[in-house]
Amino acid sequence: MTSQIFDTLIRAARVVDGSGGPSFAADIGIVDGVIAAIAPGLSRKGARQVIDADGLVAAPGFIDSHSHDDVYLLAEPDGAAKVRQGITTVVIGNCGFSMAPILPETQLQAMESLAIIGARSLPGKPHRGWRFAEYLERLEAARPALNVVPLVGHGTLRIAAMGIENRPAGEGEKRQMAHLLEEALEAGAFGLSSGLVYVPGAFADTAELCALARVAAAWGGLYTTHMRSEADLVMEAIRETLTIGEHAGLPVHISHLKVMGRANWGRSRETLGCLQQAREAGLRVTCDVYPYTAGSTSLAAALPPALQSEGPEVFAERLKDRSLRAEIRRTIETQTAGDWENLIYVDTFEGMVLVKAPRHPEYCGRSIAAIAEAENRDPFDVFFDLLVEEKMDAVVVEFMMHEDDVIRILQSPFAMVATDGLPGFGSDLFHPRFTGAFPRVLGRYVRDMESLRLEEAVWKMTGLPAETFGLARRGRLQPGCAADIVLFDPMTVADRGTYEKPNVSPLGIHCVWVNGRLALPADGLSTERWGKVLRRPQE
Ligand code: ZN
Ligand code: CU
Repeated sequence: MTSQIFDTLIRAARVVDGSGGPSFAADIGIVDGVIAAIAPGLSRKGARQVIDADGLVAAPGFIDSHSHDDVYLLAEPDGAAKVRQGITTVVIGNCGFSMAPILPETQLQAMESLAIIGARSLPGKPHRGWRFAEYLERLEAARPALNVVPLVGHGTLRIAAMGIENRPAGEGEKRQMAHLLEEALEAGAFGLSSGLVYVPGAFADTAELCALARVAAAWGGLYTTHMRSEADLVMEAIRETLTIGEHAGLPVHISHLKVMGRANWGRSRETLGCLQQAREAGLRVTCDVYPYTAGSTSLAAALPPALQSEGPEVFAERLKDRSLRAEIRRTIETQTAGDWENLIYVDTFEGMVLVKAPRHPEYCGRSIAAIAEAENRDPFDVFFDLLVEEKMDAVVVEFMMHEDDVIRILQSPFAMVATDGLPGFGSDLFHPRFTGAFPRVLGRYVRDMESLRLEEAVWKMTGLPAETFGLARRGRLQPGCAADIVLFDPMTVADRGTYEKPNVSPLGIHCVWVNGRLALPADGLSTERWGKVLRRPQE
């Protein structure tokens, strides 16, 4: 037997290979960024680096199937918050928000609407706009530590074609969106994402989405969606998603599947049942989930979208008007299950905790209700004043789920793990899913609560997303696969970030390799970065 010489040899690991199958003991040999061998007793002769993994699990590097790292990886290409979780690949462009294409005529509106994913922290603004290929080149030039799987956001496409207008797209505008989408798919995008509770995604009808999904289908892409409702109308929203999948003939993926609001707790049985049925009927349907009972989004998402057709900053000015406030308040108080996602009805002011309000740091960490009580004001006034003063750029964490639903969704055979993290950009308050989602699943839901088997959880973090997004030779520990690997201690792995103090590194993640190179050595973050911007179709 000729003994191969490895660049890196990981010795005596418990291999959880990402297939969902039982773990086994073996060594892993890496050559030129690729897994060359997995077997017991591999030769260490000549290896430049030998890592003893006794007592540790080796798994494929985790794939964050739903991230908002579009700006984060340009601003902070070391991706520390992700690498420290064992994540080696992130899917970006989610919930209708992608940083491209941006056209010069609507650049301002695009950048305002992308504030939620950190557009204001973008190094080097796209003054003359940029097409999708150019954005991917910028990302590549930043040399991110993680692999990136880009999606095109429907909201971004719509702004490029018609600005922020509350009306159906005209034929010419639909053609323009389809053309820009096609250009992005040609540049390597993996599919189309939508955010149907946000402006301007909420203004699109099903036919518009079907037409665009058909374009994605022609390029072998998928359709991912933050659905029109995750509360009272969640079943209607699921039916719309399935309709799009059927009509366009492409796989659909539901982002952060959940049921929000006390009145809907327990309905994950119903939603999962419906999705399971659709799968049995032959539709390719998957979803992602973050392992927390709170979500996070912009405070402005709690406003009825219909009124906001001039973009956030203009609307913030208009919100000073008392009669407009009264009208919105009436809509919020009377419309429990209307044609928009009523977050104040779902979360309540008690459940909405401010995490980003640049002009009001003293409010951060407190609920709208608590602020109102302390200042003896009406919570609606606090809400409207904040939107005006922050020019709509405020973010909340919203407590609105039941853990039983979170667990039921996590356990579903077509659900994968995601962070859905909104980067903090140096702030010390944000939803802790950004720094802890993956270790939290392994610690809390695998080890402590035994809701999932370890092999199953790892598959939901690796093999399943790789298959869903069509990532060739990733998401598995197999000879021939890219050497994206995480080494962790199943006995200690845990998230440590809390809602009060989210910016804390997880425990138990020992080493992380991206394309065969150490991104996280045992003694801290590497200064070199080895991620690739992935493009579809892949060889
Ligand atoms: Zn979303
Ligand atoms: Cu999202």
